Amino acid sequence: MNRMIRIGVAATLALSASVAMAQAGADTYKSKCAMCHGADGLAQTGAGKAMKVPSVKDFKPGDDLIAITTDGKGKMPSYKGKLTDPQIKEVVSYLKSLGK
Ligand code: HEC
Repeated sequence: MNRMIRIGVAATLALSASVAMAQAGADTYKSKCAMCHGADGLAQTGAGKAMKVPSVKDFKPGDDLIAITTDGKGKMPSYKGKLTDPQIKEVVSYLKSLGK
């Protein structure tokens, strides 16, 4: 009986941690990425169009999105030292979720 309760509590904690992560990714995205990639990821902003930012729907499946966000690419700024590795993972998974 006790064991069942413990499993339930652990599952609830794991779930709320992943919800909090998704929220952190969304906040980082809005403050750091949306001006170029657009709030919807489609890059239909002034800066997005001027810099020919690709829409999330056109991201190439083989590209390492975490590496590109960390190191930058062309006009895409590098976030090394500006965001932590876990923050980069969160924000990239948020961006990917916009493409679905
Ligand atoms: C100053 C505008 C700008 C900002 C801010 C910006 N990006 Fe970009 N991003 C670009 C451009 C331009 C490209 C295309 C680079 C290329 O292929 O030459 C790009 C490409 C990317 C790619 C690669 C897409 C692919 O198909 O390989 C990812 C992933 C990405 N950005 C994520 C992010 C994330 C996450 C943030 C916020 C932390 C962010 N970007 C902020 C301009 C920006």
